[in-house]
Amino acid sequence: MLRHCEILFLLGVLVMSSTDAAKLLGIFHVPGKSHYLSGSALMKILAEKGHDVTIVSPFTEKNPPKNYKEVVLTGLLDEKKDENFNMFDMTNNPFMMIGLFSYISTIMVEKTFNNTNFKKLMQSGEKYDAVILEEFNSEALKYVAHHFNAPLIVYNAMDANEWINPYQGNPDSPSYVPLVYLPYTSDMSFFERVYNSIIYVYINLVRHIFFLPMQNRVLHKYYPNAPNLDQFIYNVSLVLLNADESVYDALPRVPSMKNIGGFHIHQPKPLPNDLQQLLDNAEHGVIYFSMGSNLLAKDMPTEKKKILLRTLSKLKQTVLWKYEEENLPGKPENVITRKWLPQNDILAHKNIKLFITHGGIFSTYEAVYHGVPLLSLGVISEQILNGKRSEKNGYAKAVPFFDIEEETLDLYLKELLENPKYKENAARRSRILKDKPQSATAAVNYWVEYVVRHKGASHLRVASLDLTWYQCMLLDVVAFLLVSFVVLIYTLKFLFRTVFGRKVNKKEKTA
Ligand SMILES: *[C@@H]1O[C@H](CO)[C@@H](O)[C@H](O)[C@H]1NC(C)=O
Ligand SMILES: *[C@@H]1O[C@H](CO)[C@@H](O)[C@H](O)[C@H]1NC(C)=O
Repeated sequence: MLRHCEILFLLGVLVMSSTDAAKLLGIFHVPGKSHYLSGSALMKILAEKGHDVTIVSPFTEKNPPKNYKEVVLTGLLDEKKDENFNMFDMTNNPFMMIGLFSYISTIMVEKTFNNTNFKKLMQSGEKYDAVILEEFNSEALKYVAHHFNAPLIVYNAMDANEWINPYQGNPDSPSYVPLVYLPYTSDMSFFERVYNSIIYVYINLVRHIFFLPMQNRVLHKYYPNAPNLDQFIYNVSLVLLNADESVYDALPRVPSMKNIGGFHIHQPKPLPNDLQQLLDNAEHGVIYFSMGSNLLAKDMPTEKKKILLRTLSKLKQTVLWKYEEENLPGKPENVITRKWLPQNDILAHKNIKLFITHGGIFSTYEAVYHGVPLLSLGVISEQILNGKRSEKNGYAKAVPFFDIEEETLDLYLKELLENPKYKENAARRSRILKDKPQSATAAVNYWVEYVVRHKGASHLRVASLDLTWYQCMLLDVVAFLLVSFVVLIYTLKFLFRTVFGRKVNKKEKTA
């Protein structure tokens, strides 16, 4: 028999758990597979905890989990395919990239605003406890949180960078905070600091003169009654960063920024039989090779592909290559290709000796988690930068994809496979990544719930956001002190003259 207080207690638990389940809207509008994979991984963590999750994205799930609704941005993917976009052709000139990227990201925002399903969502009159938005130079989309009158949580697939810092008031001095378009770590030489500072000024000018006005125009085209952009873009309750000091440099974080790096990594599942046998039985171990989900094998320049094949054919290890085509002409005997491979489960196998990667951040995390050394062949600037950082952290060799040559590859592969230091450093970084008061998954739930519990958690906001730029840089204070100093000097000089000048005059008269 239940006593009264027990019934009350049970009711209490029921009420608690029902209010604990929050209604969350996730916006992951970027039509790139890796963006969707990380965004959906984030929202699935929240759905699994029992929250009621809605995700806006161009992708759909075959078997969506429980509590997981989709608002599909139909058409966004087809348009991307039509453009015949080849990732190997991306430019790395930072001046070009910054302008181009501001423009492309604004087009993506416009396509989202113009989407029928998105419009329906905005008119639905639904209530949300928080809106989670992937940052991709998508400031106008922050309006969604304002529209639903819900706290805004921003997710960044990278570390704190210039996409995030200005809106949180996070310290971003170009003396040690490298920009995302440059392949620098926070350990910069003099000339790297010069270039980093020039690009820093350039980015901020582009942002204020070109990018934000453009985003504001798109917003008001679809929502004429919306307030001006700068009324709400600095109103971000929380930033979830796909960052961790095991992989990224140690950089400042204001209290509204939380690390969740490695959150996408799940417990390894059993491998399919053929792969399990292949990995178990490879006498000299296996090298796993994948350029991620965007850099497709068919787009890889033939000349570089030939260099890779020649180099790999000289190794005694088996090479398992995620290669999306049927045929690989000139495939050596020790190379096995598959159109798709369960990367995380493969990297967890003890017989994996090395991971040849494009240096994407999710791949880097998976390698570090499982303690696997990397040969990093970055194509775009962020990947090249990830490779450089991995090299600095001692578990990788890095060379930009377009610079690969047979001799360098031979040398790097020999070094990585024979010198135990790379494996040891990878294992050390793996221990750092796992050494946490709470897992990355638990941190996602905790901080999202925290923002909901504290209705936007405005106590985390730093005061610098309410200052103007010259107040923030203390220019007004410097100007005041300079003027005061000058006034003081002139006053002293005047007093000196009037006091001593008279004496001198007197002396002159008496003399
Ligand atoms: C908005 O969508 C409509 C069809 O739904 C299309 O005709 C129009 O071109 C789109 N506008 C933009 C700017 O994409
Ligand atoms: C800023 O966020 C808080 C907390 O979510 C909210 O109460 C407030 O209305 C927001 N302000 C604007 C201008 O969106």
